[in-house]
Amino acid sequence: MPHILLLHGPNLNLQGRREPSVYGQETLTDLVQAARQAAEQAGARLSDFQSNHEGEVIEAIHRSPDEGVDFIIINPGAWTHTSIALRDAMLSVQKPFIELHLSNVFSREPFRRHSYLSDIAIGVMSGFGIKGYTLAVQAALNEMSKS
Ligand code: DQA
Repeated sequence: MPHILLLHGPNLNLQGRREPSVYGQETLTDLVQAARQAAEQAGARLSDFQSNHEGEVIEAIHRSPDEGVDFIIINPGAWTHTSIALRDAMLSVQKPFIELHLSNVFSREPFRRHSYLSDIAIGVMSGFGIKGYTLAVQAALNEMSKS
């Protein structure tokens, strides 16, 4: 059974309450549930982890090979634009991954246009809100079916 790990970075625990006009009304639980449903419908397993502490997300990435993870979907939040450490962690485990954002980061402040992850990701999904979660799972399943 394919195993997808869905990771969330800082402030995403406040999802639904912080800037709903930018990020939508759905809670983090809603986002994870949408992704899990899409995965399970296709016979895959989805585990998830959120932290406001960069090291905890990095450690979750480090654990992923031992936990049988085949593919990572990550909404890194603001670490997208700041974290070489997160990039190095993704390079360390060599897992294929999708970078996912609720908002369209390219239509916002200029500093959100730069990502430390995009060029090493399989692809980037940005601007589709909660729908992006099901689309990202479908894209991940499609990628895994190639190998
Ligand atoms: C975000 C976009 C980031 O720029 C921002 O820092 C976030 C959320 C998104 O899902 O749209 O925290 O990753």
